[in-house]
Amino acid sequence: MRLMIIGSGYVGLVSGACLAELGHHVMCVDNDTSKVERLQAGQIPIYEPQLSEMITRNVARGRLGFSSQLPRLGKEIHAVMIAVGTPPQTNGSANLDAIFAVAKEIAAKAIHPQMVIIKSTVPVGTGDSVQALMHKARPEMHFSVISNPEFLREGSAIDDFMAPDRIVVGAGDETARNTLRALYAPLEQTGTQVVCMGRREAELVKCAANAFLATKIAFINEMADLCEAVGADVEQVAHGVGLDERIGEAFLQAGPGYGGSCFPKDTTALQAIAQEYGINLRLVETVIASNDARKRGMGRRVSRALPGGLSGRVVAVLGLTFKPNTDDMRDSPSLALIDAVQRAGAKVQVFDPQGMNRARLHLHDVHFADNAYLCAEGADCIVLATHWPEFATLDAERLGRGVRNKVLVDLRNFLDPQAFLNAGFAVHAIGRPP
Ligand code: UGA
Repeated sequence: MRLMIIGSGYVGLVSGACLAELGHHVMCVDNDTSKVERLQAGQIPIYEPQLSEMITRNVARGRLGFSSQLPRLGKEIHAVMIAVGTPPQTNGSANLDAIFAVAKEIAAKAIHPQMVIIKSTVPVGTGDSVQALMHKARPEMHFSVISNPEFLREGSAIDDFMAPDRIVVGAGDETARNTLRALYAPLEQTGTQVVCMGRREAELVKCAANAFLATKIAFINEMADLCEAVGADVEQVAHGVGLDERIGEAFLQAGPGYGGSCFPKDTTALQAIAQEYGINLRLVETVIASNDARKRGMGRRVSRALPGGLSGRVVAVLGLTFKPNTDDMRDSPSLALIDAVQRAGAKVQVFDPQGMNRARLHLHDVHFADNAYLCAEGADCIVLATHWPEFATLDAERLGRGVRNKVLVDLRNFLDPQAFLNAGFAVHAIGRPP
């Protein structure tokens, strides 16, 4: 099939590369000309494992290209996918300006009926609005607007796309459903379930899934607090609870609170759209508040671990991105942590394997170290904020030789506590007895 994907951000690029890998001919269109020029020159603007190789491979095969102009959409184009951003507005609702602008452009450029696939995460009802807008713009032309949400996790987006738990297709008519089935045929043939449903339902699946996953995390984080108070280990509790098939072990990893561009944004957007319809999502509201409080509270943890307080102390933060295998700093728990310890009078030095460039845009008065050992040098406390795999092999003895004070706060329960205890550290973890 031949398709256009509008928006070369995270979702558009990953979808474009993967659909080309599946054998389709994809043109990724973005109105940011400098981004398009960089992509044409083989420079990938985000860090995502396997993405760069996959883009290079499919460009060489002639199946993937980049353009800053949406061409006229004739019979040879089987579908146009919208993958532009839907950033939060001050009231928490999603800003749909880019979606509507792109829909208008597609309507203007169409010289043949078109399938329009909404890949961006949007509030329920957006597909209806887009359908109505396109019909109004070109009443004589047929457009079929389909909801096809993505469930990609940053850091494992390529694997998530190529081997998804399910593919959700929200479309009213059979032709649209069949087109989407054909698009994903190679995945369906290898066992992925394609679930067809109404458009509003598909839009809700995406938001409800993210809200539920956020709820699991907020729940286990509360249990972690209780575990600390009663002297129990949250890892063991999560394991025992998660073995119940109705619950499942995934997303029960206690930590500093969820971050990233999706859970915080999608939970508030879900709450906002529910309010528009006069529905109060009490659980979702509580999850949002609980997670915000948790992120803000991480500074107090570090302060408690350092008798005498934070004023005049040096805190080394290992890991800055909201999770490993990404360079994304958006809503990262490390930001709230660093802000809190700086306010309490501490100096901060940081290291992240991939996030340093983006972190420089977010952090001020921070020393950026070239590696984990240099980051720990002269510190009163080492805080592990993101569990990058390479941190697992850090040498506790060597870290200990550089620090001023041997205190480790592991916000991800990731480092081997025994190795650090053996090296003379006081070890503070999440939801574990000291
Ligand atoms: C999330 C969803 O997992 C994807 O399915 C969805 O497609 C995506 O949002 C989206 O809406 O586009 P992502 O934000 O990339 O993906 O990352 P996750 O792996 O879900 O992690 C989110 C946050 O939760 C991270 O800060 C992570 O550290 C935290 N987390 C995750 C925990 O604290 N504990 C866990 O057990 C799992």
